[in-house]
Amino acid sequence: MISIGVIGYGYWGPNLVRNFADTHNAKLVAVADLEPRRLEVVQRRYPAVSTTTRFQDLLADPAVDAVAIATPVATHFELGMAVLKAGKHLWLEKPMAETSLQARKLVDEAAERQLTLYVDHTFIYTGAIRTMGEIIRSGDLGRVYYYDSIRVNLGLFQRDVSVISDLAVHDFAILDYFLGEHPTAVSASGINHFPGTPENLAFITLFYDSGTIAHTNVSWLAPVKVRQVLIGGSKKMITYDDLELSEKVKVYDKGVSFTDDPAKIHEMRVGYRTGDMWAPKLDTTEALAVGCGHFVDCIEKGTSPETDGRMGMRIVELIEAATSSMRGRGETVYVQSKGQ
Ligand SMILES: NC(=O)c1ccc[n+]([C@@H]2O[C@H](COP(=O)([O-])OP(=O)(O)OC[C@H]3O[C@@H](n4cnc5c(N)ncnc54)[C@H](O)[C@@H]3O)[C@@H](O)[C@H]2O)c1
Repeated sequence: MISIGVIGYGYWGPNLVRNFADTHNAKLVAVADLEPRRLEVVQRRYPAVSTTTRFQDLLADPAVDAVAIATPVATHFELGMAVLKAGKHLWLEKPMAETSLQARKLVDEAAERQLTLYVDHTFIYTGAIRTMGEIIRSGDLGRVYYYDSIRVNLGLFQRDVSVISDLAVHDFAILDYFLGEHPTAVSASGINHFPGTPENLAFITLFYDSGTIAHTNVSWLAPVKVRQVLIGGSKKMITYDDLELSEKVKVYDKGVSFTDDPAKIHEMRVGYRTGDMWAPKLDTTEALAVGCGHFVDCIEKGTSPETDGRMGMRIVELIEAATSSMRGRGETVYVQSKGQ
């Protein structure tokens, strides 16, 4: 049984607390938040769980084996490092840190102490993403030509991070999982419509050595919520609408082929294929429940999480590259990942 403490009970923390409370082989023992008002809610819902406004209490408690951090990004490094130095396994919310240097230090500290470091890129544990990952990695889609995503809504404006850290981070993680390849260059444009606040809208393009191109359009300033992705492969194509209740993922046997037969040089050399469409059955287990179970499993078996610190670090590198490109009005930023 792994005993879990959670730091941060704001918007996302309650989801972690609820899922850890239900996780087999885990025991939720303590929650810390700076706001006593939030802790009262914990006490009402989970009377057996101890609460504190001092996160240090969790670190000093020998009964706590692992700590999950769901506080603002600016606090992740300091709190995460303190958790590792206290000899406890660490769950960090996405993005794992503000800079890739901080991410690297967390990865090294966890490795040195042989502690599990899990980064909560939640989408990776959804039935939709796992099924699409299987289709792509099995080769069924063929060569991935492009990934095109729109992730917009009238979003919660963040004070400390831009829309890239908040929303594009999901596409970066999904692409990392699908392609197993790190982009080599990034170009991004974005804007803050309200002076003194982080960018609330961005268009980001990622270039890969294999020829794949990926684009994501992220915004907190859209009248409607859209979460749609198109993926084009040389054999098949996928549409993914995360807001669809059923049939979120559709696989189309559609595509084009070109002939380079010199005898047909004057003819239209493109052939179109329009075959069937099918919607795979998806696992509907809550992604966080899968993630919490995986975290506990990794601690027990000493294995590395699918979304480990290195993956978290690659994503922070992309946030840095995209942000730097955006501040340079779309100039190309070349990426050399240290998180491989
Ligand atoms: N995985 C996901 O899909 C997902 C979704 C939303 C948010 N998040 C991530 O979760 C994290 C938290 O986001 P949020 O929206 O819940 O923020 P929030 O501001 O709503 O909540 C943060 C909480 O942390 C508490 N806190 C801050 N510093 C603390 C400290 N030193 N000790 C104890 N408590 C402290 C605050 O009092 C607050 O209650 C961010 O990293 C965010 O990116 C992840």
